[in-house]
Amino acid sequence: MLRHASRQLLGAAAAATSCRQAGCLPGAAAVGAARCMAAASAVAPEAQVTLPDLPYDYSALEPAISGEIMRLHHGKHHAAYVAGFNKAMEQLGEAQARRDAQGIVALQRAITFNGGGHVNHSIFWTNLAPVSEGGGSPPEGPLKAAVQAQFGSLDALIARMSAAGAGVQGSGWVWLGVSDQKKLAVATTMNQDACITTGLVPLLGIDVWEHAYYLQYKNVRPDYLKNIWKVVNWKDVEQRYAAAM
Ligand SMILES: [Fe+2]
Repeated sequence: MLRHASRQLLGAAAAATSCRQAGCLPGAAAVGAARCMAAASAVAPEAQVTLPDLPYDYSALEPAISGEIMRLHHGKHHAAYVAGFNKAMEQLGEAQARRDAQGIVALQRAITFNGGGHVNHSIFWTNLAPVSEGGGSPPEGPLKAAVQAQFGSLDALIARMSAAGAGVQGSGWVWLGVSDQKKLAVATTMNQDACITTGLVPLLGIDVWEHAYYLQYKNVRPDYLKNIWKVVNWKDVEQRYAAAM
């Protein structure tokens, strides 16, 4: 995902560079410049991020998370972040082609929000699994040992993350990540700020936006945070932990 974003940034920059090398900007005739800008802003379809398929049916996480929530969350909310990020990246290419520093700066918020939304949700879906496919089964191996060494027990880690998630004001995420010192750490982010902005490599993210639970749990976020652990895919978290170490 981030790799896709990087490729897109590079692609837009390369298009702008080829324009400059072709002598189109600056000082080109207006028509030629416009043609050049269009070439720079065109984002190749393969460079755009796409909505990933869920690895399970919308209703597969019930009763912990309703199928209606999953359908809207994935098909509407995540899809909107994907569309917003691709649009912002296209606009970034145009601003780069114009050498419009103010325009580039103005786009950063949309890129952070929509790009973060895409990155965060892409992690979230794979952090979950139906009970029939191992959801809720506790971690094993090196991750289990690290959790016990640093938090005392899995239950203690869950309690800590649940409390941190309940304490997020407004919308955001609670994360388990790995620090530069290769230690596990719990962190929260606001809105759609990505885990990596905290300096941690993300292992497990729990979405505490209202859109993740309100249809089923209303305003009682702690109940959502109590039940979501029944469908956490610790196998996926183990794999992320191994890759981060
Ligand atoms: Fe969400």
